[in-house]
Amino acid sequence: MPKVLVSDPIDQVGIDILSQVATVDVKTNLTPEQLVQIIPEYDALMIRSGSRVTKEIIDAGTQLKIIGRAGVGVDNVDVPAATRRGIVVVNSPEGNTIAAAEHALAMMLSLSRYVPDANSSVKSGQWDRKSYVGAEVYKKTLGVVGLGKIGSHVANVAKAMGMKLIAYDPFISTERADQLGCRLVELDLLLREADYITLHMPKTPETTHLIDAEALAKMKPNARIINCARGGIIDEVALAEALKNGQIAGAALDVYETEPLGESALRALGKQAILTPHLGASTAEAQVNVAIDVAEQIRDVLLGLPARSA
Ligand code: NAD
Ligand code: MLT
Repeated sequence: MPKVLVSDPIDQVGIDILSQVATVDVKTNLTPEQLVQIIPEYDALMIRSGSRVTKEIIDAGTQLKIIGRAGVGVDNVDVPAATRRGIVVVNSPEGNTIAAAEHALAMMLSLSRYVPDANSSVKSGQWDRKSYVGAEVYKKTLGVVGLGKIGSHVANVAKAMGMKLIAYDPFISTERADQLGCRLVELDLLLREADYITLHMPKTPETTHLIDAEALAKMKPNARIINCARGGIIDEVALAEALKNGQIAGAALDVYETEPLGESALRALGKQAILTPHLGASTAEAQVNVAIDVAEQIRDVLLGLPARSA
């Protein structure tokens, strides 16, 4: 029987699929050193965002045939190193689209109405209504950066809430943007016009620190920014400074340059900042979707069938 290592929490439905063809070991919270030590005995590795699969781990995995990421990105896997060793890397490009889009929308509304801070205030025994006068999203302009699967769903829902939509995405057509009711614009204009900005593109050399001090300086003082895409697209030091100085009105982040988030000026901010611990895909539905999607691909490869590579 082949052996599969599951090194991040995965829905049971995925374990059940893998168990049809393999012995499955679930071992979470392993250190990189522990992973290097045990990986030689496994034919497949299944992860979420918690495990970083480095070249060292891949090279130690002498039996490895496939690495499956139960999520969208494969940015925590050294794909070139895996490819050199003939190891297939697969993911679930659509399984958590709705979950991530809904988290971004929840962040936008929570940020506008200071829901997390108002909740903490009542729970701590206060009844303070003056500190939490918010803003409506109705008739405000939402700038969507990255109009792919998640960005499109956010745009559709935001449109239904009466928001005006603009978008920046160098790779999509005006026709596609028109279909979504979005005016396609340059990033500079989006930064200057939007009341809300939501980021939905991958982290690449082009998008790393795309939102830096210069970009933040172009935003309106009432603007709020949401990042449920990838850490590092926003320069966190510049963002904390812009929020502290009231240069922009708010930010909601689900992802960080380093995860888990360590010591950071962001933690000291008040109601103008909302921080969640990479929860975009954390719904029961999405976790079932991605577990099935990736477990089936791993099962197929272990059975000698062809795989769809990430
Ligand atoms: P997608 O591939 O469907 O869409 C990404 C879009 O970004 C594409 O339309 C692409 O053209 C565009 N893009 C690429 N480079 C760009 C650039 N320089 N500027 C602007 N747009 C650019 O991907 P998706 O499934 O919609 O995922 C979007 C992001 O959300 C990814 O970074 C993904 O890893 C992340 N994500 C996060 C969570 C979470 O838990 N927080 C969950 C799922 C996905
Ligand atoms: C993803 O890429 O799908 C997300 O970051 C979600 C996750 O893996 O938890």
